[in-house]
Amino acid sequence: MTIRVLHVASELYPLLKTGGLADVTAALPAALIELGADARVLLPGFASVAAGLADLRPIARLERSFGAPEATLELGRLPGNDLPVYMIRADAFYARPGSPYLDAEHVPYGDNAQRFALLGWAAAQLALHLDPAWAPRIVHSHDWHAGLAGAYLRAAARERGATRAAGVARSVFTIHNLAYQGIFPAGQFDELGLPNDFFDMHGVEFYGQLSFLKAGLFYADKITTVSPTYAREIQTVAQGGGLEALLKGRAHDLVGILNGVDYTVWSPAEDAAIAARYSVTRMSGKLRCKAALQQRFQLTQKHDAPVFGVVSRLTEQKGLDLLLAALPEIVARGGQLVVLGTGDASLEQGFTRAAHQHPDSVAVELGFDEALAHEIVAGADVMMVPSRFEPCGLTQLYALAYGALPLVHRVGGLADTVTDASLENLADGTATGFVFERFEPDALAAAIRRAFALHARGRDWRETRARGMREDFGWSASAQRYMALYRELA
Ligand code: ADP
Ligand code: GLC
Repeated sequence: MTIRVLHVASELYPLLKTGGLADVTAALPAALIELGADARVLLPGFASVAAGLADLRPIARLERSFGAPEATLELGRLPGNDLPVYMIRADAFYARPGSPYLDAEHVPYGDNAQRFALLGWAAAQLALHLDPAWAPRIVHSHDWHAGLAGAYLRAAARERGATRAAGVARSVFTIHNLAYQGIFPAGQFDELGLPNDFFDMHGVEFYGQLSFLKAGLFYADKITTVSPTYAREIQTVAQGGGLEALLKGRAHDLVGILNGVDYTVWSPAEDAAIAARYSVTRMSGKLRCKAALQQRFQLTQKHDAPVFGVVSRLTEQKGLDLLLAALPEIVARGGQLVVLGTGDASLEQGFTRAAHQHPDSVAVELGFDEALAHEIVAGADVMMVPSRFEPCGLTQLYALAYGALPLVHRVGGLADTVTDASLENLADGTATGFVFERFEPDALAAAIRRAFALHARGRDWRETRARGMREDFGWSASAQRYMALYRELA
């Protein structure tokens, strides 16, 4: 039996991306289709989504619009791989310039509860045959934006007399990041059109407010997150964000499935965005990428100076305050640092200041630039991901593929994907990068010193780099695990 699955999310690469979520919502459905699933995606009709989808045509008028003057469901396809994508056209909600979540002052839009309730509600309607030609058996929602889908499904099932949503569709919720919880004032509950008793500790209520994320966790038939270690971490008080008890209570329905890499997008042998192509058996192109990177950022042209790269959202999660503290360790040893990122003003200023102080060895580009991200991963010797917490992390996986050794804090998906270049791991032939344990500047500094030490041992460096490049983090193994989960539910 072919499994029909609808992925519900707010981002999709290459149409709209603020982080790794978009990479996953694009690659996972494609990998599921390869395995024989009938997968589609549902997105809000943000301007770049409406502009980027091909062959858009109306499917149905949405009879609830949560305050938008009008809302319709359209169906199109993603150019490139023809992935079918449903889009909610409600221009008053979604056709706004800038960030999909924040206004020009970086404040969440005042109507975010309604904007994303519409997304969850439309997902449930698709399961109820809003599109006569296609209805999902599995509704798979990602992060808080899609968190209400399961609640609407449950409400619909109850109306039909079934206790679980079984009669309608089964639901999966994936946590990409527990730090974003979709919290709104309790007063907005009435606007959601959910049964009154859903505003409950066993429901969408969270310490007196509404939480879309909690709704997602509570009403889903199965919960997944994006690495096995993060699945364990979020069941603890330290990392559960107040939801640890719920998650622990649902431990039997919670599984960590590692994200994969889309090697059609991230492969140095085929990447059109980088200065020269290379592969593990032909590495000379990587040196050219490094030289091009040094030139682009006007750093000293030195091929033997290790270049450390950062491509990241500049938020507290990413631990880059620690890197600012450990930066002298890089500069004093003759290394270079290239940073691409956007986010918190204090981090943007900190890196900008460092670049002014050390124009020959530190460079920063503030902004979001997909092509430049590829150039940095290709040109760097080491990619830094010192995150406080990291559900999975894709940057370190891209780094491995591009022969840039990842330097990471041992948390979440970083712990699951990088093996430290300790003496014993080097001897065993398992090392792929640098891993530090304590989240302290001196621990990061020590890992940076290890990177310099290995860099000075050319043969060990090349072997470690080649091992990382040969690793396979493609989607097929993880997609098979999602398929097994769907089969269990369906
Ligand atoms: P997160 O989703 O928490 O941001 P991930 O490592 O999973 O972290 O994914 C980040 C994704 O976003 C990667 O594809 C990375 O290349 C990309 N990215 C982050 N910041 C930028 C930026 N400033 N410009 C371009 N790409 C970026
Ligand atoms: C989140 C996490 C990141 C993960 C990504 C995709 O944004 O912060 O660790 O890789 O989602 O799942």
